[in-house]
Amino acid sequence: MTLPDQRTMMNTTGQSASLSSRVKEKFQSLFSDDRPLLVRSPGRVNLIGEHTDYNNGFVLPAAIDKAICMAVSARADKELHIVSMDLDSSYHGSIDRLERSPLHWPDYLLGVIQQIQTLGHELGGFNCVFGGDIPLGAGMSSSAALECATAFALNEVFELRLDPLTMVKLSQKAENVFVGVQCGIMDQFASMFGRRNHVIRLDCQSLEYVYFPFNTEGIRIVLLDSNVKHSLASSEYNTRRLQCEAGVRLVQPHYPKVSSLRDVTLPMLETLVAPVDALVYRRCRYVVEENARLLAGTEDLQQGDLEAFGRKMFASHEGLSRDYEVSCEELDFLVDQVKGDPGVIGARMMGGGFGGCTINLVREETIDALVERLTPLYRQAMDKELKVYIGRIENGTSLVII
Ligand code: GLA
Repeated sequence: MTLPDQRTMMNTTGQSASLSSRVKEKFQSLFSDDRPLLVRSPGRVNLIGEHTDYNNGFVLPAAIDKAICMAVSARADKELHIVSMDLDSSYHGSIDRLERSPLHWPDYLLGVIQQIQTLGHELGGFNCVFGGDIPLGAGMSSSAALECATAFALNEVFELRLDPLTMVKLSQKAENVFVGVQCGIMDQFASMFGRRNHVIRLDCQSLEYVYFPFNTEGIRIVLLDSNVKHSLASSEYNTRRLQCEAGVRLVQPHYPKVSSLRDVTLPMLETLVAPVDALVYRRCRYVVEENARLLAGTEDLQQGDLEAFGRKMFASHEGLSRDYEVSCEELDFLVDQVKGDPGVIGARMMGGGFGGCTINLVREETIDALVERLTPLYRQAMDKELKVYIGRIENGTSLVII
């Protein structure tokens, strides 16, 4: 599978171009090197296939036009000088002493450095400034974008010759090991491998992937941000992983070839899991059904049947809310309110859950009316402000030339 030419990609989104200029200017005001390497690394959306990646299943994400921009240059010593422009916060450290930081945000970069070192590569010190426009806590994977930006930038600056998949894997591992979140591979993969106007069907077992065109005339991806920060997310996320593993263990004695939920069928769950543990059964059933929905959904996309695809998004939400129980009342409310709206083709919660956004496929000419209708309804029902983002599908992590 050919990759977009990541080494020479020019940035074409005006928004990101001005972000890159701001990051570059900040870098130049702080450090003597006035020609830093600039990298853009995007957040992601996921059309369908949630909580399937760590079960060796399928996902259907895309990189978006919200990104982190990072400026980096090598230092002659071993020191790390890193600045988060948006948080107005600085970190000083050494490449030889990587410890979790009380500031928390440096951990995403330090974890990547650690993983690169674990692969046996020598790194020197560096100066770094980064900033971005990916809303934090909204489920668009700002953390994966930061990890991928770091891996990509260090790969260039220190001429490590890492291929994109290696950078994806080490970024995921950085989050698992250094940050301590047991995430799957989807977010980092989408951030690195995204392609403009395409979604990626990734098989998380074989890591084979296929790009599907998604420049659907007159339809936009609208993200409705519940404004609920997902505080439960990492503990409940890890619990879901354990419940899925428990389901696999109940099936394995009878089907020794089964190694994950990817190999499990609904009849296996009904006979071997349902009688033993009703909760684990519901969790596993959702995952098995979601994989099937995704595969059928990509056929809908190929046939241009967006209505059928949209119905699967609603069904996915139903499963995530009732069986997998990773939704919350705000997300359920937002999905309920758009059901039956002729302008909305499909909607569901997106990402890990317990807050963040719903992803909606909406007919372009109806977006304004939809937002006007939902904003006061949401405020009244949930006492929170609704935020709305219109996502454009963009290229993955790339160099920025300005
Ligand atoms: C988070 C994780 C991903 C994936 C989703 C749920 O975004 O980082 O790996 O598991 O949740 O689909």
